[in-house]
Order: sequence, then structure tokens, then C-alpha cells
Amino acid sequence: MPARRRGIAESGHATRVAVVRCIVAAMFAAIVVAGLVALVFWLVVRPKPIEYTVTRAVVRHFNVTPGGGAPSGGAATVNATFYLTLAIDNPNRRLSMRYDRVEFYVYYGQNTQLALADVPRFHQPHRNETLLQVRAVARSVQVSDQAARELEHDLAAGEVSVDVQVSAGVRFIVGGVYSRYYHMHGTCSPVTMGLSPSAARSFKSVPCDVEI
Ligand SMILES: *[C@@H]1O[C@H](CO)[C@@H](O)[C@H](O)[C@H]1NC(C)=O
Ligand SMILES: *[C@@H]1O[C@H](CO)[C@@H](O)[C@H](O)[C@H]1NC(C)=O
Repeated sequence: MPARRRGIAESGHATRVAVVRCIVAAMFAAIVVAGLVALVFWLVVRPKPIEYTVTRAVVRHFNVTPGGGAPSGGAATVNATFYLTLAIDNPNRRLSMRYDRVEFYVYYGQNTQLALADVPRFHQPHRNETLLQVRAVARSVQVSDQAARELEHDLAAGEVSVDVQVSAGVRFIVGGVYSRYYHMHGTCSPVTMGLSPSAARSFKSVPCDVEI
């Protein structure tokens, strides 16, 4: 009797070892297959980075109303209209892109959001450059007294620098297959605009740092 019991215990042990071995082998095989799929995908698609550049920026109707001073007076306010063009260059041969609701934010410094604008969803084909043009309006936007002073200083100097932030939901499309949604966030900084009517012609393009 004891000998038989030991035999059952041993065969149970042997089964567990076999199961563990099988799981390890399956995991190893899965990793190898996933690696091969990634390698083949990479070789076939040869993804190249997509480039985002602010190619035109103009500000109009820019003025600052100083605050009345605390506690009685109101906050300083800013009016401005920004015309921005973002070039999206997709150099890929086999990869196209789907953009959902591209949003543009115009920031003055880190904390002062002056204006925002958005672009409806669109599809960008492969090997394509798309220009997105937006008009972002700051209408009586409240700013801190310090930001107002700096903006007035810029007005006097005839030049203002802002940060343009771009955010969107993106999907990659290869051979008709859509990836999941990724959140794309870009920062284009500094976008420096002259205030004279002829300044737009001398604007220098600003590349954006993009994280996806
Ligand atoms: C890029 O794609 C857009 C949208 O399909 C199209 O309107 C535009 O003409 C294309 N641009 C180039 C340079 O092919
Ligand atoms: C800013 O725009 C608002 C609304 O359009 C207007 O009432 C205000 O007078 C403007 N401020 C300046 C300083 O032009």
C-alpha cells in the first residue's frame, strides 16, 4: 500500500513538471513568434518618423488691457488672433494616419493659455504632406499682472514669442489594418512672430517635439 501511494505521488509530481515545461515552452515560442512578427513588420513597413512643423504664424489685433490692480480692479486681459499653419509630413510608403480632433493651444510662458482651436478628424495618406491651418482667437483672456507686463513689453519691442502645443488622437494604418488610438502631443517652441504687417514673410519654421 505505501509503495503504491508513493507511486501516485510521484506520477502527480511528474505531471506537474510536464505542465510547467509545456507552459515555459509555449511562452518561449510565443516570444519568438512575436519577435519575428515585429521584425517582419519593421522590414516591410520601414517606419520613418512623421514630422510636425509650424510653417507659418501670424498674430493680428494684439492688445493688452492692464488690470486695475487688486483688490478693486479687474484682471489684465489680452486680445489677439493667431493664424497658424502646421505642416504634417508623413514620408512613409506603407503607413497612413488617421487623426481625430487635432487641438492647437497657444501658450504664453508655461501657464498662460491664450487661445485654442481645433481641426476635425481627417485621414493622411502615405507619402503626403498635409497643411493644417487654424485661427485661434484670444478674446478678453484674463492673464496675471506679470504676464500682462511681459506682453506689453513684447508689444513695445514689436515681437511676441508663444508656445504652440498640439494634441490629437492618432491611429496608424498599415495595409488596411488600424492600430489602437494613441495620444499624440507636440510642443512647438518658441514660435516668434513679428508684429509689423510685413513680419509674416520673414517667419522661420519651428519644428515640433512630438511624443506619441
Ligand atoms: C495630402 O493628402 C490630402 C488629403 O487627402 C490632400 O488633400 C493633399 O493634396 C495631399 N498632399 C499631397 C502633397 O499629396
Ligand atoms: C477685446 O475684445 C473684447 C471682445 O471682443 C472687447 O470688448 C474689448 O474691448 C477688446 N479689448 C481691447 C483692449 O481691444
